[in-house]
Amino acid sequence: MPSSPVFRDSSPAYGAIRRRSRFTYKQLGSLASYSTTSPLRVIAHIDLDAFYAQCEMVRLGTPEDQPLAVQQWQGLIAINYPARTFGIGRHCTVTEARKLCPQLIAQHVATWKEGEEKWAYHEDAASHIGTHKVSLDPYRLQSRKILALIKDFLPSNRQKVEKASIDEVFLDLSGQIHGILLERFPELGNPPPYDDPSENLPLPSITALDWQADALVDLDDIEAEADDPDWDDVAILIGSEIVRDIRAEVRQQLGYTCSAGIASNKMLSKLGSGHKKPNQQTVIRNRAVQHFLSDMKFTKIRNLGGKLGEQVVSTFDTETIKDLLEIPVEQIKLKLGDDTGIWLYNTIRGIDASEVNSRTQIKSMLSAKSFRPSINNVEQAYKWLRIFAADIFSRLVEEGVLENKRRPKTINLYHRHGGQTRSRSTAIPQGKKLDEATLIDLAKSLMNQIASEGRVWPCANLSLSVGGFEDGVVGNMGIGAFLVKGDEAKGLKTQSDASTPSSDRPEKRRRVEGPSIQNFFKRDSPYGATEDNDSIEDADEHQTLRSLASHDAEDSRKEAGETDFVTTKSSETRQLSITDYMCSRCNAGLETAEALQSHLDWHFAKDLQQEEERGRPGFASHTSVPSDQKQKKPGAPSSKKSSRGSNSKLEQGQSRLKFG
Ligand code: CTP
Ligand code: CA
Ligand code: CA
Repeated sequence: MPSSPVFRDSSPAYGAIRRRSRFTYKQLGSLASYSTTSPLRVIAHIDLDAFYAQCEMVRLGTPEDQPLAVQQWQGLIAINYPARTFGIGRHCTVTEARKLCPQLIAQHVATWKEGEEKWAYHEDAASHIGTHKVSLDPYRLQSRKILALIKDFLPSNRQKVEKASIDEVFLDLSGQIHGILLERFPELGNPPPYDDPSENLPLPSITALDWQADALVDLDDIEAEADDPDWDDVAILIGSEIVRDIRAEVRQQLGYTCSAGIASNKMLSKLGSGHKKPNQQTVIRNRAVQHFLSDMKFTKIRNLGGKLGEQVVSTFDTETIKDLLEIPVEQIKLKLGDDTGIWLYNTIRGIDASEVNSRTQIKSMLSAKSFRPSINNVEQAYKWLRIFAADIFSRLVEEGVLENKRRPKTINLYHRHGGQTRSRSTAIPQGKKLDEATLIDLAKSLMNQIASEGRVWPCANLSLSVGGFEDGVVGNMGIGAFLVKGDEAKGLKTQSDASTPSSDRPEKRRRVEGPSIQNFFKRDSPYGATEDNDSIEDADEHQTLRSLASHDAEDSRKEAGETDFVTTKSSETRQLSITDYMCSRCNAGLETAEALQSHLDWHFAKDLQQEEERGRPGFASHTSVPSDQKQKKPGAPSSKKSSRGSNSKLEQGQSRLKFG
């Protein structure tokens, strides 16, 4: 029988029960400095519900209960929750979807029409796959607005926000929560006994925590609900309050619902946001982690959705975390190599000390199109290259290229003919202002180089990308360069310190040194196999700086969960040297980050073509995940009715917590 905590401290029978927190003054202090090892750390992951679909609903003023899907050619790329109740999913064609739900609104994505200067919503886009190219600009724009609003909502000196994809962010709320804790519990501000920071804190002076409508994951030990909360519970509760307010603000100001996970690290918070959808938030307290993870397939975890996950499944012949927990670390290391082994060992135990990285800079951009029917000459190719250049240039302008804040160093063209992909790349001249015409000229000259090799027609796919972004060059700065702040400013400082023109400096300068777990998984690809929209675009940056926010290329989806490439040292299974970069998709070893980047770009171009051949142009899920599994994604119930905006449902664990 659970005893009331009120009696517990005074009852002699419980005299032995601890009166102090498990946490020390020092650990509390580490919260203020966003220490990634602080046991009180609070990380949130926010993911927009049916994002593209919501963008269209907001744009069109669609009633909330109206089923709506976003169409791309004959396929669907986003389905709102009312439409999901009819069993409509990303696997459906428009025709199938309409059969399931005759009142469905299928809104086609915006497109660039051949020869036009700007994308637009064309009535008849779906029937013009030959002459139009998809634009995701409208969604990028909404994404930026939402991100800006979230940032603004946080105190100006406490904005640790990482954009993880077009519709999701990680927030490190630790610093802000530290401040709130001290405000609400002034006793925490007292000096520690004997001035010794390793002394334990007093227990929180409250015994009941009000979790409101949050979905609380059950504790590992259900009985423990009766225990007094400790500071990690209080911290995460404050985190969930902040997140609830952010979600309400996004809803109120911009009209979007989102779901969130609140936990002690990125991995868990990401799993949490997908736990209950739409429009809900899930709290995973430290004491609930094992319970939360135990029945889960590890392929749901960030970085385990792709090849690495497959490798783990085949090596240990299981998909469940529970089974893996039985395996001693030495054995895992033996099979996967030291770094990956240790990483996996920790991960399945809910341990993840990766940092929320507030840099949100894009490292490359790609514009691509697969042709059906194929194109047959250079003139046709030029037409598309003009559109690609316009598309990329408009995105460059948003990135501040006109102010010379940032600019790409290289341009690449991929060309596909008869199952073979060729690519050419060249440096973008750094001396003069970058404009659209320059991009077109460079693209054409790359095209000419490829064409001159002969046997390049018919061509099934062209992809143009720019990459190797650098901060504005010192000595050649426009006024914009004086206005940069934060990380950009730091970038400039590094540059002037090095007194080397940026174009000459190897990108390696930013590489995180040392093969630690922290930088082992260069790509923080969230969630894994099925539902990510991470793009390959900034892969080179992931090679150099871990977990930068990704940028979402149109047609970028196929990299979802597969880009968890690994740099590795002396892994027996792969037999690579210490300097190798490994492609997680085919296990190829590449010598440099740049080589890996082009290799991944090649995969990317190849996937584009395959996907488009399958009639889902430009978008794809990980091919290894069967579509029935995708449908089982949390939050995509095919039968349950969902109501946007309703937040009143009590969740599991809710009642048990009101024990005070
Ligand atoms: N997307 C896509 N192709 C995919 C997966 C996602 O085009 N294979 C797009 C979707 O249109 C979506 C956005 O990327 O709106 C974000 O993806 P995700 O968060 O995975 O799905 P949502 O549609 O937002 O749905 P959920 O509510 O489950 O998050
Ligand atoms: Ca989403
Ligand atoms: Ca997402």
